[in-house]
Parts: sequence; C-alpha cells; structure tokens
Amino acid sequence: MDIKGIIQSMTLQEKIAFCTGADFWHTKALPKKDVPAIMMCDGPHGLRCQKGEADMIGVNKSLPATCFPAAVTAGATWNRELYAAEGEAIGREALAEEVAVVLGPGCNIKRNPLGGRNFEYLSEDPYLAGKMAAAFIRGQQSTGAVSSLKHFAANSQEYKRQNGDSQIDQRTLREIYLAAFETAVKEGNPGTVMCAYNKINGTHCSDSKVLLTDILRTEWGFDGMVVTDWGALNDRIKGFRAGCDLNMPGGSRFMEQATLDAVKNGTLSEADIDASVERILKLVEKAQAVKAKPVDFDAHHALAQTIAEQGAVLLKNESGILPLQTKNVVLIGRMAGKMRYQGSGSSHINPTKLVNLTDAMPDASYIPCGDAQGAVTEAELQEVVNAAKAHKIAIVAAGLPDLYESEGFDREHMGLPEGHNRMIEAVAEANPNTVVVLFGGSAMELSWANKVKAILYMGLPGQAGGQAAANLLTGKANPSGKLTESWPVSYGDVISKEAFGVRNPEYREGIYVGYRYYDKAGKVVRYPFGYGLSYTQFAYSGLKVENRTVTVTITNTGSRRGAEVVQLYIAPPKGCIFRPEKELKGFARVDLEPGESKTVAFELDCRSFAIWNDGWKIPGGTYQILVGASSRDIRLETEMDVRGEAISAPAWQEGSWYETLSGKPSREDWERLMGHPVPIQPEPKKGSFTMDSSCAEMKDSSLIMKIQYNVTANIIAKSFGGKKDLSDPSYRMMLLCATDCPLRAVVINGNGAMTDSLAQGLLCIANGKFFQGIKCMCTRG
Ligand code: BGC
Repeated sequence: MDIKGIIQSMTLQEKIAFCTGADFWHTKALPKKDVPAIMMCDGPHGLRCQKGEADMIGVNKSLPATCFPAAVTAGATWNRELYAAEGEAIGREALAEEVAVVLGPGCNIKRNPLGGRNFEYLSEDPYLAGKMAAAFIRGQQSTGAVSSLKHFAANSQEYKRQNGDSQIDQRTLREIYLAAFETAVKEGNPGTVMCAYNKINGTHCSDSKVLLTDILRTEWGFDGMVVTDWGALNDRIKGFRAGCDLNMPGGSRFMEQATLDAVKNGTLSEADIDASVERILKLVEKAQAVKAKPVDFDAHHALAQTIAEQGAVLLKNESGILPLQTKNVVLIGRMAGKMRYQGSGSSHINPTKLVNLTDAMPDASYIPCGDAQGAVTEAELQEVVNAAKAHKIAIVAAGLPDLYESEGFDREHMGLPEGHNRMIEAVAEANPNTVVVLFGGSAMELSWANKVKAILYMGLPGQAGGQAAANLLTGKANPSGKLTESWPVSYGDVISKEAFGVRNPEYREGIYVGYRYYDKAGKVVRYPFGYGLSYTQFAYSGLKVENRTVTVTITNTGSRRGAEVVQLYIAPPKGCIFRPEKELKGFARVDLEPGESKTVAFELDCRSFAIWNDGWKIPGGTYQILVGASSRDIRLETEMDVRGEAISAPAWQEGSWYETLSGKPSREDWERLMGHPVPIQPEPKKGSFTMDSSCAEMKDSSLIMKIQYNVTANIIAKSFGGKKDLSDPSYRMMLLCATDCPLRAVVINGNGAMTDSLAQGLLCIANGKFFQGIKCMCTRG
C-alpha cells in the first residue's frame, strides 16, 4: 500500500472523516484507493463478533466462540505460556471471522474488590498483570490478529466510568497504574492501544498528549494505533494533538466541522491528522496481509478447560477432604447446574458449548437451591439439609450472581447473596464434610469460611469450567492456581473504601494497593496475594544470588504430580523514601512429579529496584530477596547489595500515613503526596453543564433531559419485554450506559441520530438558555 501517496491524495475533510469508524465495528473503506475496511471485536476472553445488530455491552447476539476463563481465572494460572495460547486461540477465531483487531487484553489494576470489571482484569499487582498481558498479546499477534491493549489508563471503577476523574499522584501512576501497560507495550508490542473513558488528573485520556504521545510513544516506543474506547473521545481537536487516532464507534460526524475549522484557522496542525491517518492505514495494511487458518473448536474447548484447571484456587482443604475419596456426594445450589462462568458486558461470549458441574458429575445427586439472584426459600433450605445429611460429602456451589458484578456498575458490597450464605451455613451444620465451590470475579467476604472443610475458588472459569471443577474435586487435576489479588476479611479493611465509587476518585492510598497495603499495615487478611493450596507439598531450598540472577530449587515432597507458583519479592533497604514492605519482581510455575526437584532462575534488572521520583531511580542499599509461596508465606530469604543513589524522603514523610499506614490517609496527607492542593470539584449543576454531562446528571434540573431520560428508559425497556427491571443486569447496565453517558458520547454512539448541533442545543436548554438552544439547533451544521 502506498500510504504516503494515499494521504497526499486525500482532502483534509476526507482525512478527518477517515479517523472515525464507519459503523460500530469497522473502520472506513476507501474503495477508490483500494483501502478495505477492517473489523474490530471484543474481547478479552473470547471473540464477541456481532454480524447482526451491534452493541458495546453484550446484549445482542454474537457468533458462537470459545468462552475462555475470564482474566480473573486465567491470571491465577500465573502461566504465561498458557495465557499466550489463549491469546493465540482467540486470534485464530477472530481471523476465521475476518476480524482484524481483538479488543483485549485488559490490564487495569484491581484497586478495590468492588470494581465492576475486576473479573476482566489480571491482578492488583502491575508486574504480574503486565507480564501476563504481554504474553497474551504475543500469542495473539503470532496469528496475525492484532490485539488492542485496554483500557489505558487508570480505569479501575465503573461508577461514572465515562466522565469520572481518577486523581492520582505521579509516583503511584507510574509504579502502579501505568506499570502494567508499560510492560505489556514493551514486551508484547500490541498493534493498538485503547484509551480509556475516564480523565486522569482533570484531562480525558483521549485528550492527553502526555499519556498517548509523551509516555506511550516517546518513552515506551509504541508504534501502533490508538483507538478510543467506544464513545471515549472527548474532543476531536485535542485528540488529534494528543495522538488519539481512531474514534470508535463510527457512524457519527462528531466535531468534524470544528476540526476542519481548527486546521483552517491554524490552531490544529494538518500534520497531526496525517499522522493518525498514517497509523490507521498501517494497521489496515498489516491486516490485509494476514491469512486465516482453520479453527479447531474442540481443541479450544480443551484449552479453556486446562486454563480453568490451572487457574482455580484451592483456598482451604481441611483434613485433606479433597480430592474426594467417595462417590457418595450431593451437589447443592443453582450454580452447580447453572454455573456462573463469565461476566456481563462487552466481554460476554456466546459459548460453543457449556459444561456445568452437574454435567461433569452425572452420578452425583443434585439439589438446585436458590434463584438467579441467590434468594432461597425455607422449603429449599430444608431440602438441602436433608440431602446433606443423607450423603457423605456435600458440595455447595455458590458465589456472585450476574446481577452482582458487571461492566457498567460496581458491586454494592463484598458479600455473597444472603441466600447463599444461609444455604452454606445450613449445609455445613447438617454435614461436617461440606465443600464450597465458589464462583465470582473478585474477592468476597466469606463469613462461613471457618465452618466448611474446603473451598475451591473457580473465579469465572469459562465454558469448560464445570469439567475443570469436577476434575479438581475428584483429583484428576491438582489445584495450582494462586490468587492475583488479596482477599480481605471484610470490606471495612479495604484502604480505598472511602475513595472508591465516587465521581472523581482520589487515589489517596497511593502505591499501597492490595498486598502492598495489607502486608505493610500488618492487617489480617482472609487469603493473601499469591496464595493457593495443592494436593501435594513443595519444599524450597538453595536460594542463591549471583550478580542479578536469583536461583532457587523447588521439590515436590508429596505423593502427587503438581505445580507450584514460586514468587520472588524484593524488600527495600530500611529508612529511605516510603515504599511497600515487599513487591513482586518475579514468578515461575514449576511442574513437578512426586519427589522431583527443579531449579528456577529469575533475572532481576534495574527496574526491579527502581521507584518513580521524577524519573526511574534506584535507591541504593541492601535489599532483601524473598522467595515464597505467597506474599505472606516467604520460605527463603537472602540479601543483595544494590548500587544506586541516595534518594531522600520528602520533608513531610516522617510520621505521615504513607510511612506509618496507621488508620486512613486524610485529605491533607494525600495533598502532600500530590504535591499541591487539590480543589474539590463541584458537582455539575444547571448553568455549568457541559458536553461531558450526562442526561442522568441533568434530568433533575432540566425538563428536556427528564423527557430524554424517560424516552431512553422506555426504548431500552422495549428490548426487555417492556419491563424496567433494575434487577436484570443487562437492563441495568444498558440504562446506566445510555443515560449516564456524556452528551458528546451520545453523539458519537448515536450513529448519526444525534448531531453535534442538536446536542449543543439541548445542552443550552438544560443550562436554562432556551432560545439560544433553539437557535443552536437551527443554525449549526
Ligand atoms: C468497553 C470496551 C469494549 C468496547 C466495545 C466498551 O464499553 O469499555 O472494553 O471493548 O465497549 O464493545
């Protein structure tokens, strides 16, 4: 393709238009120049390819595709090769449907257990998330399909997901929220990066030259295309300047005229537009050269099962009750027959097949208890108690129903449905040999954990999850997954509790996310980061450090074949700038026969020790090298002298929360960390609404927005048989996405139905300027 020639032959207007897609999933074709359209589809754990009616929240049908375990489970394998194989399989399925770009993987940080999309993300730890995402991308792109790394960046909650402002200090941003992306970009080299909906410190990601050009391209060397999340473009002019290339979904003419005017009046350089056109054309060129290969769906189903087996985490196994020694078992709970195997939203797959726990254990008795939302009746409870008494072992399937976690909204609390808690308690009282198989996308409060003998956490295990669970329960497979996020005892222990799920979240806890907080604060957790049991045992020996290579020998001292995830943490020298007590800097999965030993090696580099202090700098001194089975189960340690520089602690550090971690960080503490006062942003109100305001935000002070809100709710309800049922997760998600969506995004997502001028007019009216609004609607293009 003669890319330069094509660009030269295009008019300015054509170039601007080319940087918005043609429709929901396609770029624009340029038939006269032999440039075809290319298709992009979700998603992170399977292909969501819609050939019919399109949407971004997984409501309309998509073609059957392998539903792999969600990232919560795939991440818990800590197995780069396996996750790369998943990426590759999804790449093949994409190419078979002529899909060029797969919208995934996601590597945002799980900041808080209630994050609605935690199930789509890999970890609370940026090292682990980055390494896994890079592996997925390498696997996927080896097929010729292109990955779109998302959601760049600091997009760790669903509340006000399209216009909230993540307020974060520079060090935390670099060490935690950008670090996973940095690794994934540098080591995975994705063809595209998707910029997130939110703002960071007041600037929309799509407008941010610092994020999309200075950091992503100049510092990290990214040479691909930036696509917006669907409806995330804030301002086309700023976007071009920032290096935001493709506005998706397509179909609108959002800010085309304004952009044209900006070039004509000299406030936007045409070269910025050319650069975006060039990057899109390069992607199209790459896609054109790729050939699809046949897809073996059975093999992909088997791969999905292996990932689910390796990603399931055995949280408890008292008296070695598992693996089962008897066939005299009863399966209890709706989720045994209707497993929760994937999350809701844009990652929702139409699976090629589905194996529930009841399918995989056909000889076990089964009592389905509870409804889709987890409510149980007294009669059901009586029935399960009787069944539990009549069997040697009772296996209860429980967890988070669909309604509890989804793209579009955050979880309301960290608990299971009350019905599930009651069901487990009743069964455990009736039968001391109770095993819980747990489903759900993030940490949960387990009030009954001490009352049951075993807990097997499947996460969201994908379409083969039932078979994987059965194999693990019966011992055909040996559990080896480890948690990629800490499980606090209760939500009250979560440090970001007050500063999460609010419009403009203040990331007050700074770098102390997950175990970085719990371990330094000495908080009791239910299960620590990196934790998971096996049916065998492992011994650690011979820890050595030579230059920057750390070696350790792992031996399987039990009687079964198994795999251990070995973790390497560094602990910083005492008495310098505040740092977590330990940080993950290496991991390896080791498969071992009984009695077998293997030596694993970890290579440390400068970044293993560096902190962000106006640039990456290594505080010199004696570091501890800790090797263990979880962040709280360090088996061996040694020391290592690291040459670096003396970095003095900030003057305010002594006695501050960031040093003591005692209580909660106050706003004053956090402003010191930010390095400047941070004014509290006023709630949007009549007179100051902007194109970033949503209909839901404006409806209480504007009749026109109230009407608009009701019309939207009615239209959405139509696809749900006229019912406005907020307990239906799809309805709730659609309503929130449509009505809490900024006006500018309504224009972008509306496929031409809402023009710029109509939106601007409505905005004027909502701000109380009726006549100006009418004039705007009539006169603007
Ligand atoms: C999601 C993205 C997704 C896109 C397209 C958005 O709502 O945030 O993750 O790729 O829709 O479906």
